[in-house]
Amino acid sequence: MELKIGLLGCGTVGGGVVELIRMRADKIAAMTGFYPIITDVLVRDLTKERKVQFQHERLTDQASNILDNDDIKVVIETMGGIEPARTMILAALRAGKHVITANKDLIALHGPEIIEAAEAARCDFLYEAAVGGAIPLIRPLKESLTANEITDLKGIINGTTNYILSKMTESGANYEEVLKEAQDLGYAESNPASDVDGLDAARKLTILAGIAFGAKVSLDDVEVKGIRTIAASDVAYAHELGAVIKLLAVGKDDGKSIALEVRPSLVPKSHPLATVNDAFNALFVHGDAAGDLMFFGRGAGSLPTASAIVGDVIENLRNISMNIPSRFRTGPVASRAVRKGSPEPLRYYLRMHAKDQPGVFAHIASLFAKAEISLETVLQKRAHDNQAEIVIVTHETPSAALSSIVEQLTARGDLLEIKNVMPMEKGDA
Ligand code: NAP
Ligand code: HSE
Repeated sequence: MELKIGLLGCGTVGGGVVELIRMRADKIAAMTGFYPIITDVLVRDLTKERKVQFQHERLTDQASNILDNDDIKVVIETMGGIEPARTMILAALRAGKHVITANKDLIALHGPEIIEAAEAARCDFLYEAAVGGAIPLIRPLKESLTANEITDLKGIINGTTNYILSKMTESGANYEEVLKEAQDLGYAESNPASDVDGLDAARKLTILAGIAFGAKVSLDDVEVKGIRTIAASDVAYAHELGAVIKLLAVGKDDGKSIALEVRPSLVPKSHPLATVNDAFNALFVHGDAAGDLMFFGRGAGSLPTASAIVGDVIENLRNISMNIPSRFRTGPVASRAVRKGSPEPLRYYLRMHAKDQPGVFAHIASLFAKAEISLETVLQKRAHDNQAEIVIVTHETPSAALSSIVEQLTARGDLLEIKNVMPMEKGDA
């Protein structure tokens, strides 16, 4: 039996979905009893040249051709952005259509509202592709690992920044040069803010943490720092310290509160996340029963993202065939206290420029001593203009003590300038 699907948006991801559904239609029919056909495709510009060759699919710039069409039972949203995607998804659900999306921005901001609408309509709302592209993350957290108390999430969940940091590490080039190269190659968008300022990773962490910790989590709960301040010298010092720099998304649940951060970190080369390069993504999950798990793969791209979307289509068609859509409570279940800063002491890397004169280093050392912060490594190099560049790695230090020392160091702007501060991970997972 044919099952008609409407596609909202046909760019990088939507094009992959058209291709993959065509490639797998017979297999999907055999698995679910429904032969999937994309009948209508919404785009903004009907005249635009597209990679995908349309066959029977009708191209339209009117959403009503999909949303008001009773023959269409499933809507796949790959437009992106908040509006009009939110309004269209809610309208589709109210019309009794199942919805599958890759739109992490929308879910991070309006997930609870949409999930509630889906439950009310007894429709599926599935979004495996929203985090980690091809990597199965949502379903394992929502289904396979539900017997666990999940305590830790830690990973690289933004491909663009991982590509930039990997290239800076490989070539020694500075951030601006590599960003430009990434934009020329189409890895980074012309306005890269959402990726390089850590917001894309923060939205994805919001979605993962909500499911993993069973918590009502909002984007404001995530402390976010991006990669714009990472200099070629930070990358070189990281190498000297046996580490690489990665943008990590970190979620912790200690049973009392949860802490969520996106921040560049020094990752020792012996840590498995240090080997995740280019646009690849990886996520560590720790469950009390399962122990450590690591998920790795392509976090973006046309067919990798379509792989997750079409997987959701198959789940949805199976649910329809058994009359059990909306079988999971997918939404957040409890309000939880959220704390700022890392809940556990970490090692920190600090790079600063200081006046190259007697007593300055002694002053820095005395501040650390007074704060009872022990130093693990100290490197000092002559920079230029009578400035010395000092790099300090602390022993494990509570985040409040670190903030206090940074404040005290910053107060001596006449003597020194802090250039960067980042946590340094332990050597293993
Ligand atoms: P894209 O290439 O920019 O494609 C967007 C498509 O939506 C285009 O076909 C565009 O039409 C259409 N569209 C946008 N606004 C519209 C509107 N108001 N009315 C009608 N059509 C509209 O985007 P993408 O990279 O495929 O990303 C799509 C979604 O997938 C986003 O939510 C993104 O975050 C998510 N995602 C992307 C990736 C990835 O690798 N790219 C990975 C994971 C998740 P025109 O073609 O006519 O402009
Ligand atoms: N901009 C995202 C990234 C695309 O770089 O990971 C996939 O969500």
